[in-house]
Amino acid sequence: MIKEIKDNYLIWDGCDTVELAKEYGTPLYVVSQTAIENECRALQEDFIKKYENVHVAYASKAFNNLAMLKIIEKEGLGIDVVSGGELYTAIRAQFPAERIEFNGNNKSNEELEQAIDYGVGRLIVDGSQELEKIIEICRKKGKKANILFRITPEVEVETHQFISTGQKDSKFGLPLDESLLLPIIQQAIQSSEVNFYGIHFHIGSQLFDNSTHLKAAEVALQLAVMIKGKFNYEIKELNYGGGFGVRYTEDDKRQSYAYFLDPLMALTEDFCVQNGLNRPTIAIEPGRSIVAEAGISLHTIGSIKTLPGIRKYAAIDGGMTDNIRPGLYQATYTGMLANKAAQALDETVTISGKACESTDILIENIQVPTIASGDIFATFTTGAYGYAMANNYNKLAIPAVVLVNKGKADIIVKRQTYEQIIQNERIPESLK
Ligand code: LLP
Repeated sequence: MIKEIKDNYLIWDGCDTVELAKEYGTPLYVVSQTAIENECRALQEDFIKKYENVHVAYASKAFNNLAMLKIIEKEGLGIDVVSGGELYTAIRAQFPAERIEFNGNNKSNEELEQAIDYGVGRLIVDGSQELEKIIEICRKKGKKANILFRITPEVEVETHQFISTGQKDSKFGLPLDESLLLPIIQQAIQSSEVNFYGIHFHIGSQLFDNSTHLKAAEVALQLAVMIKGKFNYEIKELNYGGGFGVRYTEDDKRQSYAYFLDPLMALTEDFCVQNGLNRPTIAIEPGRSIVAEAGISLHTIGSIKTLPGIRKYAAIDGGMTDNIRPGLYQATYTGMLANKAAQALDETVTISGKACESTDILIENIQVPTIASGDIFATFTTGAYGYAMANNYNKLAIPAVVLVNKGKADIIVKRQTYEQIIQNERIPESLK
C-alpha cells in the first residue's frame, strides 16, 4: 500500500507526510519509489516478458532527474528524451546510450551532435531537414545513427486538445503524403550515414480508449507494407508512442497496460502474417503512467477567505508554478488535508494558488475537514508533468523533491534558492 492513514495523518510509501512537510518544508513533491517500480514491473509482466522483441522507453519529460533515471535504468527500461537538457541529465546519470531514444520536432545541430557523440540508440526524425542535418553530422564524425521517422497517423483522440498530437494538422511528425514521405524514406534507406529502423507515432496523452492506438498502428503497418513494396526493404521497428491514461479523479477509469497492448500486439502480428512481413520490434514510450500516481504534492494552507454566498477560498503556498496543469488544461485533481486525514469532511472549499493569475486555482469545491491556516494539503497524482513543468513565475522557487521508499526518505532535488533564481541576471554598467 503506497497510501495509508495512520493516527489521522497521511502516510505515503511508509513516510509520514506531515513529518516530511516539517522536515523539508512546503511546497514539496513526494514521489514513491515503490510505486514507480510497481509500474515498471507491470510493464515487464504485461509487455516485456509476455512478448518477444519489444521494448519500453520511459518518456522522461514526465519526470526527468538523475534519481528517476537511475530507477528506470535499474528496472531495465530505456528512456525517451526530447532536448539537450534531458539528454544531458541522462548522460550525467550515466544512462546507457543504446537505451536512449531522442524525440522532438525541432532538434538543433548542437542537440543532434550531442546525441550522436553519446551514441544514443535511436533518433526519431521529425522532418526532412532533420534527416539532412543527421546525415551531415554523421558524415563529418564518421558515425552512423539509427533512425525512425515519426509520422502523423491522422487519428483524432479523446483527450484535451492541447495534448492531442496525432491529428492531421499537427506540428509533430511527417504528414501522411506519399509524395513527401517516400523520397525521404528512400533517402534514409540509401544513406550510408544512417540505419533506417522504422516508423514512430505518438497520438496523444491521457487516453483511456485503446481504439486510437489500433487505428494508428494500422496506418503505420500499411506504410511498412508500402515501403516493402516500393523499396524491397523491411522495417525493423515500430514505435507506438505513449499516452496511457492515469487516475486523477474518480471519473478516470484507469486501464491496464494489457488492455492497450494485447490488442495492439495481436493486430500487429495478424497484420504481419497476412502481409508477409516479419513482425518488427515493437517499442512503446509511456511517461505519465509510470510516474503520475507515484507522486503527491504537499502545500501549507495560508490565507483563508470566505465570500458570503459564493465560496470559501483556501490558498496554498504554491500553485501554478509547481502544477500548471489546472491552469493550462483545466486538469482536475483530488486531494486531502494530510494532517486531518481521518476527520469527517464537513466543509467545501476551493484551493487556490498564490500566483498572480486568476486561473491559478488548484481544485474547485473540494470537501475537507474544517480547514485552518497551517494545515497540510496533499494533492494526488502529481508525479508526472508536475515538477517537470514547474516554473519561476512570480519568482516563486521550484520546490524540492523527496523520494520515499518503504519508510525511508531522500531528497532527490533540492529546493531552489532565491540566489539561484537570479544567478544569471546582470546589471549593465550603464545602470550602475
Ligand atoms: N512519446 C512522445 C513522442 C511524446 O510526445 C509523449 C508526450 C510521450 C511519448 C509520453 O506520453 P504519456 O505516456 O506521458 O502520455 N504536459 C502534458 C502532457 C504532454 C505530453 C507530451 N508528449 C500534461 O501535463 O498533460
